[in-house]
Amino acid sequence: MSLWVPNHVAIIMDGNGRWGKSRGLSRSEGHFAGTQAMEKIIDACVEMNIKVLTLYAFSTENWSRPADEVNYLMYLPVKFFNKKLPGFMKKNIRILVSGNIASLPDSTRKAVIKAVEQTKSNDGLIVNFALNYSGRSDILQAVRHLVLDIQHKKIDINQLDENYFQQFLYTKTLPDPEIIIRTGGEKRISNFLIWQSAQAELYFSDVYFPDFNKDLFRKAIAEVQKKHRIGF
Ligand code: IPE
Ligand code: IPE
Ligand code: MG
Repeated sequence: MSLWVPNHVAIIMDGNGRWGKSRGLSRSEGHFAGTQAMEKIIDACVEMNIKVLTLYAFSTENWSRPADEVNYLMYLPVKFFNKKLPGFMKKNIRILVSGNIASLPDSTRKAVIKAVEQTKSNDGLIVNFALNYSGRSDILQAVRHLVLDIQHKKIDINQLDENYFQQFLYTKTLPDPEIIIRTGGEKRISNFLIWQSAQAELYFSDVYFPDFNKDLFRKAIAEVQKKHRIGF
């Protein structure tokens, strides 16, 4: 029997700021270190043949942070994709984005759209960035689309089901995550994939995200694999 592997793993990459502080560095240096950990996890997903990795990069609540930190977090995707896109092409990785892209600063939006556009024919690992994302706003924007369909008589309200609704979520083309990992010690969901996580296993690690690595990631996945063996 071959080992069960999740189709979709989602990560709340928490603890960057505290990691920076604990080393006498700035919170922003923590965020940069977080992108380096992210690369390792992406490679682990390719090696493990996981199909989708969703990474919570910026929540709609994160706008309330100090301006210099928000500015840095908005600059990071520009820097990251500029440097990493050729590598993603080589690894056949497809980039997707979930979130309200329209209200990102111009340079951030352009960098993200370019990454999505350039990698759209790749059929390896999907790396989905939850950027300017919140679960409630995801559901609300889906409801807006749905109401339009009802108004245009594309669907009868009595025929509305979960499948029909899901097609309007930011994650529409993706399977639901089977596991959600949160690093950094907090045991919260922080408005992440609240519809999509209905059946997901939750895994919490005390390690700050910049210290999260392939071994710790594999350990988290092994935990869920164990439950699958017992369950089936
Ligand atoms: C998570 O790390 C990354 C983002 C929210 C962008 P934090 O910045 O929340 O780090 P802590 O939780 O303050 O240590
Ligand atoms: C969740 O972390 C959001 C991201 C990782 C992008 P936060 O640090 O922003 O969440 P709270 O404030 O602990 O809920
Ligand atoms: Mg945090």
